[in-house]
Amino acid sequence: MATASSSTPQARSRDTSDPHALDIQDAAQQAETAIEPATDGDSSYETDSVAGGSEMTSLSSSVRDYTFENGRRYHRFREGAYNFPNDDAEQDREDMKHALVVAACGDKLAFAPIGNKPQRIIDLGTGTGIWCIEVGDQYPSAQVVGIDLSPIQPVWVPPNVQFLVDDAESPWTFPNDYFDLVHCRHMVQAFKDYSKALSTAYKHIKPGGWVELQELIYAPKCDDGTMPDDYVLKIFLDNVKEGLTRLGPDMYATAKLPGKVKDAGFVNITDRVVKLPVGPWAKNKTLKKVGLYLYAGIMDGLQAIAMGPMTRGLGKTPVEVELFLKEVREGMKDSKVHSYFDMHIIYGQKPE
Ligand SMILES: C[S@@+](CC[C@H](N)C(=O)[O-])C[C@H]1O[C@@H](n2cnc3c(N)ncnc32)[C@H](O)[C@@H]1O
Repeated sequence: MATASSSTPQARSRDTSDPHALDIQDAAQQAETAIEPATDGDSSYETDSVAGGSEMTSLSSSVRDYTFENGRRYHRFREGAYNFPNDDAEQDREDMKHALVVAACGDKLAFAPIGNKPQRIIDLGTGTGIWCIEVGDQYPSAQVVGIDLSPIQPVWVPPNVQFLVDDAESPWTFPNDYFDLVHCRHMVQAFKDYSKALSTAYKHIKPGGWVELQELIYAPKCDDGTMPDDYVLKIFLDNVKEGLTRLGPDMYATAKLPGKVKDAGFVNITDRVVKLPVGPWAKNKTLKKVGLYLYAGIMDGLQAIAMGPMTRGLGKTPVEVELFLKEVREGMKDSKVHSYFDMHIIYGQKPE
């Protein structure tokens, strides 16, 4: 599944039986150039490494390898488990997403009341590790560990921060009753079984410790009637969702998360909602900036977001996906739409 592939370019005509279909013009030529496969042996990708050395870390070369598919780089450890790339472009986008989310949250990295001197914090699916690094600086008392399928985190980090390559959906080797905080952000599109991850987290959180999830509902909303029924961003996300569902993750699971947190055994559950505008349409200065970043992140990320789910999950060819994205890009230029996403911040406590 996760190897560089090339397909015969095929322009797809409008499929009126497909509710998610967009009108696709003949742009096979542009699409062909846009998906030129990357070279497997790019040595500039081989310098990333992972700090740390617990039994959860595997430093075998296959863990630190990458695979390439349709011109993007993907993780090799548990190959195929995560359907989005991990290359430099995607890492830049993830860091920008971090900045916009933290800005929308009033510069708070976490909301769970963990006090001033937490001892152990873990971030599941840490990505570039930027959250761990900032949390490590904020809480010098804490040992902060970030785990991810991809070894893309920097080596030079605060002394209390460590990164491990591991699968958060497999049993953890940390002791039970260990963490003050298990943090997990933007993982609905990754986890195949969020409930199971929450049960595992519960086991490894100290009595009185907290779990915190920060997840978007990937259905754009609008309060002023400017969003049409056939809003292109909604059609785009429906396609991605459909592909992902066939691969396991439920991208629309966020609304069910408070119930899942409760079912896992947590108490004192809070569900806060933060609005993330798409585009710079909000009057509030911070939200205007958030919207600008989010719009740029979506536009820059269309290919990264769609390619895996739509080729692996929906069986589309890369060229079909590129043609679809061309329509999406055009539609997204309509600045009259005042849409936004709800991001839910859900935290709960393990009983004392
Ligand atoms: C959308 S990114 C979010 C990154 C980070 N949480 C943030 O908010 O900046 C999802 C990350 O989860 C990682 N991931 C996906 N499935 C995982 C799993 N089962 N165990 C560990 N990491 C996983 C991916 O490699 C990717 O880096």
